[in-house]
Amino acid sequence: MLAGKRILLVIAGGIAAYKSLDLIRRLRERGAGVRCILTRAGAQFVTPLAVASLSEDRVYEDLFSLTDESEMGHIRLSREADLVVVAPATADLLGKMAAGLADDLASTALLATDKPVLVAPTMNVMMWAHPAVQANMALLQARGVRRIGPGSGELACGEVGSGRMAEPLEIVAAIEALFAGPRPLAGRRAIVTSGPTREPIDPVRYIANRSSGKQGHAVAAALAAAGADTVLVSGPTAEPDPAGVSLVRVETAREMLEACRAALPADILVCAAAVVDWRPGEAATSKLKKDGGTPPALHLVENPDILATLAAGPGRPALVVGFAAETDDVVAYARAKRVKKNCDWIVANDVSPATGTFGGDHNTVHLVAADRVEDWPRMTKREVAERLTRRVAAHFAEIGS
Ligand code: CTP
Repeated sequence: MLAGKRILLVIAGGIAAYKSLDLIRRLRERGAGVRCILTRAGAQFVTPLAVASLSEDRVYEDLFSLTDESEMGHIRLSREADLVVVAPATADLLGKMAAGLADDLASTALLATDKPVLVAPTMNVMMWAHPAVQANMALLQARGVRRIGPGSGELACGEVGSGRMAEPLEIVAAIEALFAGPRPLAGRRAIVTSGPTREPIDPVRYIANRSSGKQGHAVAAALAAAGADTVLVSGPTAEPDPAGVSLVRVETAREMLEACRAALPADILVCAAAVVDWRPGEAATSKLKKDGGTPPALHLVENPDILATLAAGPGRPALVVGFAAETDDVVAYARAKRVKKNCDWIVANDVSPATGTFGGDHNTVHLVAADRVEDWPRMTKREVAERLTRRVAAHFAEIGS
């Protein structure tokens, strides 16, 4: 619930601005007060009347309007909120925020605020991938700006890829997480691996697996919601970026290991990725061609075991959690894997095809520790993540350090 929370919503000029109207409604349904700044470009996509009607407040548009300034200056506007949300956050506005520009009401209020800022970027896939935008986003996040999305899918411009604004309900969930009460893992740092890896055969072909990344992403989101400073190192997935985590995208197992090492030191490591065990020894640098002769043979070499490598140290996180995907003798194999890989806990899941675990939304798991095995009932991957997070928090409360 967001009762009594005051949210300043900055609506910039993107086609996704229509979703911001729904966002206002959803926030108000939960008891939040929503005050809106509509940029000049934003007003090309949604009307001030629609924004005012839904927020039941006047809409702030002009930095130099005497009435606006006398009634509510830009400083007060940004300070009276508990949270500033920028949705949609366009490449232009992110650029202004990163550069510290203040040439309209939105950018000025964003520069003047002393409150947390959450941005929901949206733009064309090429724009989002542009190094300038990525650098701006990284700079803003390093300064503490929170980000949600963008997700992948078909964009309004007709292209497909990353650039879609997070859905209103996802933004609401991120806002609720920001305001959530107890944060038992505040001050802890977590690294989570998720998704499959891709091992190149040549520039266009690769070996991968069917992992969706749902469980790993849910774990990262739950740890972050509990207050852990969370780095999610993910292989390619279609999952939306979880709120409040620092996402590092990788392709291969070796990149995943390096990204995890770069994120150390950490208190918690959760390896939920389905790492490809073997990669082609040498990827061809140009595309392999059919020349009518013998098909190429793949010579595979073993990938590093990320979990086992990080659990062996140096800099071993205090709590190391692995996942074990098994089809038979689930707990027995998980016990052996826990010892072999030197982890504290293994979350063992039955991935036999009948369970629908791979790619599905549910999971039936057993938490295998040195001194006990907990059998958890079938639940959603999100619930597994939340329960695991509660166990992690209880573990740190127990050891008291
Ligand atoms: N894992 C890893 N790096 C690898 C392989 C696995 O970090 N190269 C991690 C997974 O993220 C998971 C755990 O190890 O947390 C178990 O992975 P799993 O594939 O079940 O085990 P394997 O060691 O590959 O054993 P097997 O496939 O023979 O069961």
